[in-house]
Amino acid sequence: MIKILILGSGGRECTFAWKLAQELGRENIFTAPGNAGTELYGSNVDLDINDFDAVGNFCIQNNIGCILPGGEDTLVAGIKDHIAGSEQFKHLFVFGPDKEASKLEGSKEYAKQFMLKNNIPTAAYRSFGVSGINEAKDFLGTLSPPYVIKADGLAAGKGVVISRTLPEANKCIDEMLGEEKFGKASQTIVIEEFLKGIEVSFFIATDGKDYLLLPEAKDYKRIGENDTGLNTGGMGAVSPVSFADEVFISKVKERIIEPTMKGIKKDHLNYQGFIFFGLISVAGDPYVIEYNCRMGDPETEVVIPRMETRLSDIILKAKEGKIKEVNLKMDPSSCCTVMLVSGGYPEKYEKNKFIRLPVNTESLMFHSGTKRVDSDIFTNGGRVLAVTSLAEDAADCLKMCYETIKEIDFEGKYFRTDIGKDLLSLEKN
Ligand code: AMP
Ligand code: GLY
Repeated sequence: MIKILILGSGGRECTFAWKLAQELGRENIFTAPGNAGTELYGSNVDLDINDFDAVGNFCIQNNIGCILPGGEDTLVAGIKDHIAGSEQFKHLFVFGPDKEASKLEGSKEYAKQFMLKNNIPTAAYRSFGVSGINEAKDFLGTLSPPYVIKADGLAAGKGVVISRTLPEANKCIDEMLGEEKFGKASQTIVIEEFLKGIEVSFFIATDGKDYLLLPEAKDYKRIGENDTGLNTGGMGAVSPVSFADEVFISKVKERIIEPTMKGIKKDHLNYQGFIFFGLISVAGDPYVIEYNCRMGDPETEVVIPRMETRLSDIILKAKEGKIKEVNLKMDPSSCCTVMLVSGGYPEKYEKNKFIRLPVNTESLMFHSGTKRVDSDIFTNGGRVLAVTSLAEDAADCLKMCYETIKEIDFEGKYFRTDIGKDLLSLEKN
């Protein structure tokens, strides 16, 4: 039986651990550093996941054969290359792309060039370096608001600015290029056309040649009801997404996923892992807003519970380059997740609040910022718990989720009450 080490400590990693423990047994699942939830489905490991030698050594010592990075940081920093480049570690399989291929997420300019050369629909753009401040401002003057300005590199989810006015947008250019607000990540910026539409996330698992299309999802990024207020790591998600009908899905496959796979093969990118396509539907036509080289959080919390196929089979077949042998089976049910967050998140918030959990519930509780002290669970981050429900019908599934939430309590508990409601009203129309 293969042993797997999951890297991360969010709801996404807890969901992976939950799924893999059912398939392989909890004795074969490890999560570093994990949380109070991942511990239920395996062992938590106190490791610095950015120290790739430490990660490799832990795998050797514990007979682990596969590493599953949850987030992008270790991939963009080259964990796959490091492991493959070491005599001692090279037999370990990292389910994720190597450093070059991870640039699809790690560099907006690289991703834009990739889309351009592969004819993949995306917003028109230009990129500028530090010496191009004046040109960037001149270019901005030719566009109409709102203005979309993106730091090229990873900026902890804060690197995209959408400005309503020209002076504000010019100031953003000064900050990013002139003052290097995000350090190296904003030494190059991308300015692009604003696309008006509705967002949806698509996911594939690939071995670099073929791919499996996973269920799509919609996430709710803003802190406030009706998508208002600050951006967060995600306040909830639903799957399936009603407007992503068969026609839309076939456009996504033909115009986006297949050309992306062709581009990966043409460029000989070393890619075994997930690809997350952040899309926007503009009058029914899909455009790529971003690529991510991993699954989404909280999207994983609604995609994985709908997956009847073993995740471990997908990973192992990807390793062998035979992903097309996997018979992908999805549960047609609706799935939703609502994030319970600490009061004040995404700004300042307090930790170490006791969490009262329901004794009996049909919902799934994927932990994010939680920790266990003896037999009690306490908050340990901004995003605390992803409460997830599955039901035949989207409305019932939401109802079940919100019923469970009533049973959970911690000081400062906050959540959005409108997750999935926009899609329910679309369905009615
Ligand atoms: P990104 O990090 O590239 O996904 O951007 C963060 C968010 O900014 C996206 O989820 C969109 O809501 C928004 N966004 C990014 N690019 C555009 C665009 N070209 N047009 C409209 N909205 C955008
Ligand atoms: N939920 C968005 C992300 O994972 O990037």
